[in-house]
Amino acid sequence: MLQDTSFAIHPGKEKQNQKALIYQDVGKVKQYKKTGNGFLFICENAQVAILFYTNSIVRIVMNPKGEPQLDKSKVVVANPEQLLIKEQIINDTIMLKTNRIKLHVQKAPFRLKVTDRRGRNLLVEGARGMAYRENGEVAVWKEMDKDDHFYGFGEKTGHLNKRGERYEMWNTDVYAPHNPETDPLYESIPYFMTLRQGKAHGVFFDNTFRTVFDLKKSDSYYTFSAEGGQLDYYILAGPEPKAVIEQYTYLTGKMPLPPKWAIGYHQSRYSYETEKEVRQLATTFIEKDIPLDVIHLDIHYMDGYRVFTFDHDKFPNPEQLIKELHDMGIRVVPIVDPGVKKDAEYKTYQEGVLKDLFCKYIEGEIFYGDVWPGTSAFPDFTDQKVRKWWGAQHTFYTDIGIEGIWNDMNEPAVFNETKTMDVTVMHRNDGEQTTHRELHNVYGFLMGKATYEGLKEQLNGKRPFLLTRAGFAGVQRYAAVWTGDNRSFWEHLQMSLPMVMNLGLSGIPFTGPDVGGFAHDTNGELIVRWTQVGAFTPYFRNHSAIGTVYQEPWQFGGKHEEIMRKYIQMRYIWMPQIYSLFHEASTKGLPVMRPLLLEFPNDKKTYNLNDQFMIGDNVMIAPILAPSVTDRAVYMPKGEWVEIETGKTYAGEQTHLIHAELDVLPIFVKRGTAIMQTEWMSNVKKSPENMSMHVFAGALNESYRFIFYDDDGETFAYENGAYLKLELEVTCSEHGVEVTVVNEQGEYDPLYKEIKLNVIGLARNQKVKINGASRINIV
Ligand code: GLC
Repeated sequence: MLQDTSFAIHPGKEKQNQKALIYQDVGKVKQYKKTGNGFLFICENAQVAILFYTNSIVRIVMNPKGEPQLDKSKVVVANPEQLLIKEQIINDTIMLKTNRIKLHVQKAPFRLKVTDRRGRNLLVEGARGMAYRENGEVAVWKEMDKDDHFYGFGEKTGHLNKRGERYEMWNTDVYAPHNPETDPLYESIPYFMTLRQGKAHGVFFDNTFRTVFDLKKSDSYYTFSAEGGQLDYYILAGPEPKAVIEQYTYLTGKMPLPPKWAIGYHQSRYSYETEKEVRQLATTFIEKDIPLDVIHLDIHYMDGYRVFTFDHDKFPNPEQLIKELHDMGIRVVPIVDPGVKKDAEYKTYQEGVLKDLFCKYIEGEIFYGDVWPGTSAFPDFTDQKVRKWWGAQHTFYTDIGIEGIWNDMNEPAVFNETKTMDVTVMHRNDGEQTTHRELHNVYGFLMGKATYEGLKEQLNGKRPFLLTRAGFAGVQRYAAVWTGDNRSFWEHLQMSLPMVMNLGLSGIPFTGPDVGGFAHDTNGELIVRWTQVGAFTPYFRNHSAIGTVYQEPWQFGGKHEEIMRKYIQMRYIWMPQIYSLFHEASTKGLPVMRPLLLEFPNDKKTYNLNDQFMIGDNVMIAPILAPSVTDRAVYMPKGEWVEIETGKTYAGEQTHLIHAELDVLPIFVKRGTAIMQTEWMSNVKKSPENMSMHVFAGALNESYRFIFYDDDGETFAYENGAYLKLELEVTCSEHGVEVTVVNEQGEYDPLYKEIKLNVIGLARNQKVKINGASRINIV
């Protein structure tokens, strides 16, 4: 029928598609000029800005549609510094350099080569450079060196080294079993680090559209592209992997120091459904002397899944419950999802509609989607007014003593074919309206911002804790991240290690999987091995799904319970060490749990080591990750390593066979270094009264420096000096061990008045010497 109308002479989809498929290169440089800290290149087909942020960080922005927009970032917190940039023209190439990085811009066509100051290639464009397509896509091609290894990309399945993979960034709720090709997941961190022969550099692609990183198509080049927006990316010059993380978190921000209780053990289940059940749970932990800091309340605590309500039949007096638990040393963290039930008689929904706070289509209709409560509306967190309102709603929780919130389903997840909100929904975006297609990936991030800032305002100087499922680059500023709906599979325990390590390399230090596995039924052996790992992962929560077997630490009885108690207590014994590392994460951005390559970037054996990890720079964990296994190969990097369980020393740069029965997690400390530990007292007495420093005597004439940090663990008083920061140095010589107080700062007065020094591996004729004074006696 349509063939009888003008439709018969429609230009045709095919032709349009063909045109849209062609990449338009930016073309030759027609003219360029200096602009403050940067340069603007007018090319034949696009404009490109180059902007220096520090001597080691440079930003490239290509806009196919006109002048590059430099103030559009949703996440970058840094501003360009005043810098001296040298400019030089050699034939067809314009050179721009700081004392750390050199940009070589070839003019015809525009091609960028970035080297370090010694001429070592970082990023190189060859036959292809920056381009775009008519459909709005922007892309860039970079050459791939045969020795390049890739890390980061946030929350991805698979192995540590991402070479040969292709990843998409589009926050997605995935309940289907996560496997090596399940992509994307809940978080979008469009950032990676390249490691080549011991030196590293990084790229942060600051684009909130759906992005793709393709390291798979070819072995000689890689690309990154986005569905829309500008090609806006930062080059981080490294040159060490740690420097890249510091540079990345300089741009996207660092995690605030979490409260100590949030670093403790969390127990969760979908769901503990009544006050009685929660009380019973708490009492069992206390009776069994298993440490517990947090109980999570999953969706059943609410009245018909309405956020900011309690089901008063099941939870008649939440305030009393929270107080009782608090007296037992336990906090409650309730879940809060973004979906607000469509119900004209429900206050949050009424306000959202009446004050015009929900996401809408351009024509003005509210977007509704199905989630737990049924038909729901979604707050538009892209608007400051909405974020303030949402934050303020949390007095519902903070007024009754709650200090932490769990944000879930904030991709946002919607039970429909696309799994999310309609991409044509129009967001307010603080006055610069744009579609969900552009802002989808920051929806969860902005919900986190709204929640964290609201909580902080309400908690009168106490540190809030926020846990989130979805996020974007920079999410570390507001929330810890758990890795979503895994399963009780050994494979998922294995996969969680590289996933958490890559999250750490992506600036997000406070992460962990559901210990024991969420879906599927766990078993005694699996949950024991998983709890051993959990004791050393930054975020430590046991969580399981509705309909699966209960998996609290005592559910498998006998030796299983005993071993889990041992490892959960161990988490608290190691707390001073772990807390010091969290402090380092909050100041430098470095992860708590680290792949070995971060500490040993010159050791190729560490480049894809998936089943071992480090806590800080001197403790290595090599867990058992398969059923019935009690022996495993452990690669020891440079140095000598003392096995905690046996006291045996192993030589570095070799692989050893290590034996570990079910009750043993192989932990190794590097000789010549030290760790800080306290004792497990009881659930109400978590503030350490005793502090020990264990020095592992070792290699001669080498010194090791570290920072022991402590504070009240609960408030922001540390911002005004109420902390203890001891910089200590350990030196081993033939005479023995010397411990030197290099520096001491802060005025925090801990319960312990001394640090007990314990030297392991001292020969009979050797002595221990303490240099320098501290107000905390080292004895
Ligand atoms: C989602 C979350 C899970 C939670 C469940 C019910 O599946 O990922 O952790 O228990 O929703 O709220």
